[in-house]
Amino acid sequence: MTASVELRDLSKSFGETLALDKLSLEVAEGSVVGLLGPNGAGKTTLINCLTTLLKPDGGTARVAGFDLVGQPEKVRASIAVTGQFAAVDETLTGRENLVFFGRLLKLSKQEARDRSQKLLERFDLIDDADKPTKGYSGGMRRKLDLAVSLVVERPVLFLDEPTTGLDPTSRDALWASVHELRATGVTVLLTTQYLEEADQLADRIAVVDHGRLIAEGTPQELKEQTGGGAVCEVRIADAATRARALTVLDQAVERDEAVVVPAPGIGTLSTVIKALESAHIEPDDLTLRKPTLDDVFRSLTGGSR
Ligand SMILES: Nc1ncnc2c1ncn2[C@@H]1O[C@H](COP(=O)(O)OP(=O)(O)OP(=O)(O)O)[C@@H](O)[C@H]1O
Ligand SMILES: [Mg+2]
Repeated sequence: MTASVELRDLSKSFGETLALDKLSLEVAEGSVVGLLGPNGAGKTTLINCLTTLLKPDGGTARVAGFDLVGQPEKVRASIAVTGQFAAVDETLTGRENLVFFGRLLKLSKQEARDRSQKLLERFDLIDDADKPTKGYSGGMRRKLDLAVSLVVERPVLFLDEPTTGLDPTSRDALWASVHELRATGVTVLLTTQYLEEADQLADRIAVVDHGRLIAEGTPQELKEQTGGGAVCEVRIADAATRARALTVLDQAVERDEAVVVPAPGIGTLSTVIKALESAHIEPDDLTLRKPTLDDVFRSLTGGSR
């Protein structure tokens, strides 16, 4: 396996804050890795370091075979990036922004125009393509920002929360783009808050918290590692009743206005219902569901957030 992105003990502090704490990670060439982590975990800091926007304090990293600190220009020439916060020129139209970036990245006029048209179609921006971007909604800006990062294909693509603020159609378009890019051998490192997104896109998932890698594996491995199967969620608004439910249900934990128990099989439902009935507890709602990002996080981070 060749690693397209490889970091060893990468560290970065902001004053007292240790944003990256000796983080090591490998992203195999041609694979998609999803970086998950709660707010402030260090995801954006990592992307900023790997895209040479920030200088790490310690450790080493190679991107597309080039040393991050020693060969930053070579790294920059090998990557495309979409940041968490969009950066398009407000006075230009969507189409002009795309063509501008295409020209900047050395496409011919015709190539830049063709590519822009394709991307505008893909992200459903055709109707607004020739309006100045200052009138764009948040979601439209986001889509344009993504399109800009795809104007020229580079061997390594970094996406920082690419679908935050997108409607379902645009999210699907982005997901389809990532699948297509992967099929052509592009390596993708993306951050997300959505487990479903990581599930859909990523070959492997890395979970970070407090700047450290706390889990790594395929989506399936990760779910198994974090308690696996489904959970049964019993919603009970009344705090006292909820406390009673906690005592009568095996392995129950309190979560907001609900009590959650692991549900390895469908039989858990009847066990839970029986236990509640004998304690004369009537839940407001009762559902069997797959673990969410929240479950994975709380389990991995020990409920520290
Ligand atoms: N420029 C900065 N100056 C000072 N502190 C910073 C700076 N950038 C990040 N931090 C701190 O570093 C830590 C990691 O932040 P980072 O933005 O990398 O998190 P994140 O995982 O991207 O979070 P989010 O999910 O909210 O985007 C946080 O504690 C944050 O406050
Ligand atoms: Mg971030």
